[in-house]
Amino acid sequence: MSAIASVILAAGQGKRMESPLPKVLHPVAGKPMLFYSLDLLKSLGIEKKILVLGNQIEKIKESVNSIDRDIICVHQKEQLGTAQALMEAEPYLTDFYGVLLVLYADIPLLKMATLQKIITHHKNSSACCTLLTAKLENPKGYGRIIRNKFNEVVEIKEQSDLSEEEGQINEINGGIYCFDSKELFTALTSVKRDNEQKEYYLTDVIKIMRDKGSSIESITVEDPAEIRGINTQQELSQINNLVYQKNALEHMEKGVTIISPDNTFLESDVQIGRGTTIFPFTIITAGSRIGSNCHIGPYSYIVESHIADQTRVLSSMIEHSQIGSNTSIGPYAHIRPESVIGDEVKIGNYVEIKKAFIDKGTRVSHLTYLGDATLGKKVNIGAGTITCNYDGIRKNTTTIEDGVFIGSNNSLVAPVIIGKDSYTAAGSTITSNVPPRSLGIARARQENIVGWVDKKNIKKQNKKKEKE
Ligand code: UD1
Ligand code: CA
Repeated sequence: MSAIASVILAAGQGKRMESPLPKVLHPVAGKPMLFYSLDLLKSLGIEKKILVLGNQIEKIKESVNSIDRDIICVHQKEQLGTAQALMEAEPYLTDFYGVLLVLYADIPLLKMATLQKIITHHKNSSACCTLLTAKLENPKGYGRIIRNKFNEVVEIKEQSDLSEEEGQINEINGGIYCFDSKELFTALTSVKRDNEQKEYYLTDVIKIMRDKGSSIESITVEDPAEIRGINTQQELSQINNLVYQKNALEHMEKGVTIISPDNTFLESDVQIGRGTTIFPFTIITAGSRIGSNCHIGPYSYIVESHIADQTRVLSSMIEHSQIGSNTSIGPYAHIRPESVIGDEVKIGNYVEIKKAFIDKGTRVSHLTYLGDATLGKKVNIGAGTITCNYDGIRKNTTTIEDGVFIGSNNSLVAPVIIGKDSYTAAGSTITSNVPPRSLGIARARQENIVGWVDKKNIKKQNKKKEKE
């Protein structure tokens, strides 16, 4: 099998996005657009990968290196077109003689099977280039495939250079090509800027190769959505929707009930067990794992978290945390990063949990903040309990052992330990440890002044009389 190398062109300014963020870093269903192409190349096992970058190269490089350290990043200083971008890769391919796969970075719906198909087709032919085309109802904006009377591809013409008649052609260039590497770089030297945009178009090599007598092959994708490019915010939102719909469908096929797929946003790389129901307006981000028979949503935002079986999450946010089974979260709870919540726990209305470990069967039902805390089994936290974990300099820990009952409206001033099976009285400000099986009470004693109101009224009446 001959060798394959690949180049991804990602240096374009993305002017039509009107955004300060580099176009290729815009997330599509939570994942930067560019990562879709990178992931495909990774799955194909292509060793030599070159990425052509332009503006904000450092920012993009950093992001890319977080998932792929082997990729060679090259800089296209001035964005003079796709042909010139590809020329920047040539110095890294001087001793390469195989198939060069060229992709654009703004086509996130492209499927692995399609790439494999084009590579196989190219290898089995003697063509100097095999390209991917699609037939679109509305081809506006894309380069069009010009064929001769033998139905052979002879040229690609960009939108702004089309005649009125050519504008009717609905077969478009998908922006995915297999080239004979050496022939490509020879042809690129002949590309000129004599077009409407004054750019060096990679698509011009097709005519150059043809004129030299080389043959061009093409494959047409069945589902034209696969090669839809993202150039504007509108296209970004359309493709986001398509990816979310596809993800929802995949989960439904595996036994997940999704009440309203159009209003459910499951990023790629999310696992959900059979029998789980996802209610509308729920977002689950990449890396999350949800067990079976859970009820998630409506209105929930789960960020890279793990949730075990039979757990309910209602109108809540969970970030980078783990939740056990048969647990109930919300409504209106916020589980902040590094929290570990066990099985059969209840986290109720308006509760905020941060970096806390909460063991089996514990109940935190209402209006509570627990930060930097460890709670044992079967603890009951009264409404309005606050761990005072921050003294202005450091974060201090609160430990609440098994079976403790914290009364309502307690302030637990950390560092502090509430011993096993003990109680604290409602309204207490607990500043020192409570020993096991004890009652901690820390509040002023109540005094009742009997008859106080009557005395006050008499005083008032006397004053009135004096004035008269
Ligand atoms: C391109 C094709 C068009 C095709 C369409 C498919 C050309 C000339 N046209 O048009 O035939 O139908 O894609 O989606 O190739 N880039 C660089 N450096 C540059 C310019 C662009 O690296 O100087 C990169 C961009 O980052 C992008 C890719 O090349 O990833 C394509 O550029 P873009 O401007 O999006 O081309 P289109 O106008 O969409
Ligand atoms: Ca494009």
